Amino acid sequence: MVLRRTLAVMLAAAAAVNASTFDVTFTTAGHNVPSTLYGLMYEDINHSGDGGLYAELIQNRAFQQVTPGTSAALTAWAALGSAKISVVASSSPVSSALPNALSFAVPSGTTSTVGFTNSGYFGIPVTAGWTYTGSFYYRTPTPPSTKVSGSFTADLRSTSGTVFTSTTVPFTTSSTWQQATFTFTASSTQSAVTNLFALSVGGSTVAGLTMEFTLISLFPPTFNGRTNGFRMDLSETLLDMKPAFFRFPGGNNLEGETAADRWAWENTVGDLVDRPGRVGDWGYINTDGLGLYEYLQWIEDMDMQPIMAVYAGYSLNGASVASNDMQTYITEAINQINFVIGDASTNAQAAIRSSMGHPDPFTLNYIEIGNEDFFSPTTYADYRWADLYNALHAEFPQLHYIATSATSGNVPSLSPAPTYWDLHIYSNPNFFVNGAYNFDILSRNGLQFFQGEYATTTENSGAALTYPFIDGSIAEAAYMAGFDRNSDIVFAASYAPLLNHVSSTQWTPDLITFSPNTVIRSTSYYVQQLYSLYKGDFYLTSTTNTASSPVQWSVTRDTSAGQYFLKVINTATSANTVVFTLPFTPSHTTGTGTILTAASGTQNTPTNPNAAVPSSFSFTAGKTITYNAPGLSLSVLVVTA
Ligand code: AHR
Repeated sequence: MVLRRTLAVMLAAAAAVNASTFDVTFTTAGHNVPSTLYGLMYEDINHSGDGGLYAELIQNRAFQQVTPGTSAALTAWAALGSAKISVVASSSPVSSALPNALSFAVPSGTTSTVGFTNSGYFGIPVTAGWTYTGSFYYRTPTPPSTKVSGSFTADLRSTSGTVFTSTTVPFTTSSTWQQATFTFTASSTQSAVTNLFALSVGGSTVAGLTMEFTLISLFPPTFNGRTNGFRMDLSETLLDMKPAFFRFPGGNNLEGETAADRWAWENTVGDLVDRPGRVGDWGYINTDGLGLYEYLQWIEDMDMQPIMAVYAGYSLNGASVASNDMQTYITEAINQINFVIGDASTNAQAAIRSSMGHPDPFTLNYIEIGNEDFFSPTTYADYRWADLYNALHAEFPQLHYIATSATSGNVPSLSPAPTYWDLHIYSNPNFFVNGAYNFDILSRNGLQFFQGEYATTTENSGAALTYPFIDGSIAEAAYMAGFDRNSDIVFAASYAPLLNHVSSTQWTPDLITFSPNTVIRSTSYYVQQLYSLYKGDFYLTSTTNTASSPVQWSVTRDTSAGQYFLKVINTATSANTVVFTLPFTPSHTTGTGTILTAASGTQNTPTNPNAAVPSSFSFTAGKTITYNAPGLSLSVLVVTA
């Protein structure tokens, strides 16, 4: 709900506290704000990909990377009726990438319904009007001499067996793999997500048969209607931020526990039957159904640009690839980039992209070489950075390369000296309030900074956070005033982690928490959103306050709209007044502002998702604007010249 409040109301409230006044004068001098400044950092953590952004509803759909015969191999699956199910290594797999299958054995003499169910990624949403699109592969390893034909029933049902939508899917026994496809449409919305997908058949039809199934898939409608696409509500939540970039695929999830486990682009493209998946770095198996192509297509649909990482020879077990083994990874990185921007008529990797539906190159400007290579700074400085940078720069001189470990001024420095450097920081509110000036003191020597990960992860006491809280979010807003002010050397910044499935969390807090049918925007989400929406294209230099001030501000301009964005961040719990003196008289005497504020400790949670949301207000605009900022607030005042 958007509330409206007047400046008079805020001034009255502020009169009760002992407020300080900050006088801010700005001129028309300043610097451009890079269009890349505010975007998203993404990796598959907290089921943000599989079970999250990836709209696939069936968990463990192709039994990838599991050990046949184990109970873990059956994650999310259960038998219906007297059928026996297990995961087997198929004697004739559907593809070399997918060696396993679900074995479905029906005892002789069975007459009642048999089948199997999948419980989804911790639930399956049933939404009225949604048409679900499903498919699966099946075969009968030892078919009866007389072919058996019949129909499976595919449905969505409650755990107690109430069917919400269903359809029939004809089949005929055959030892070779067949693919079946189907759709069904839900006519009701279920508030509970503890639903099941079921595939069942009359027992007398299949009594005595053993069948195999794999790549059992079910999609709801997707963002932009893409096949194998992204979840709509999460995409729209991100789109509401107007993010400029998408950093992917990691984060730790790039690196693998070992080099063999790394995210390798070539395993994530082409037909889904040719994607083996991998053991991800956050404790669950990645299907790689969201592969390089799907990410790039969605990034394009979302009007973002990629900041794409390449594996740089360091993995989470702490081992670095030896210098004389680097060529494998250099070639892999070159091929990865060619997949994205190569000429499809001359380059084999680009031809794969074209065959998937995108003959033209995707937009690509930034390549990140590794992730957090300060964990192995010596090998990065000795050869990994140089080997990759030199080879990639020679092949793609038009691209910008981002280093992830120390540059000059720290030890060790890198050669060739990078122009772009990714910094990460997770800390407490005090750090971010006091750190608002961190970039002001850096020399302007050509080095551009990417604050690729940052978040308030603890209270000042050190207590860990499950969800962002307003105190931390406003502290991040103060820190971000430093990004606006220093956007001559800070070219990009992104909060991390981005997404969290409420039923499978590896890291807290996160910008957005979701369940199969809900999305919770945190207080930090709204801070990111306000900075991104009111980024402007030009920063106007103003009088600055001191490092100990509880109040930060930033003035930017949208030049073509003739609008000025006055951001005020009050990190104190009591109100403070800022008096802006403008270098022009506004054309409108009333301006509109947006404020995020809440009592200390406020969090948006699954049980109280809207505890703090932005509200709009009007204010009197003149050559001087007096604004009383409530305690713990981020306000954006829009002034039209
Ligand atoms: O954002 C969570 C993790 O924090 C990232 O995977 C890693 O880059 C950092 O250590």
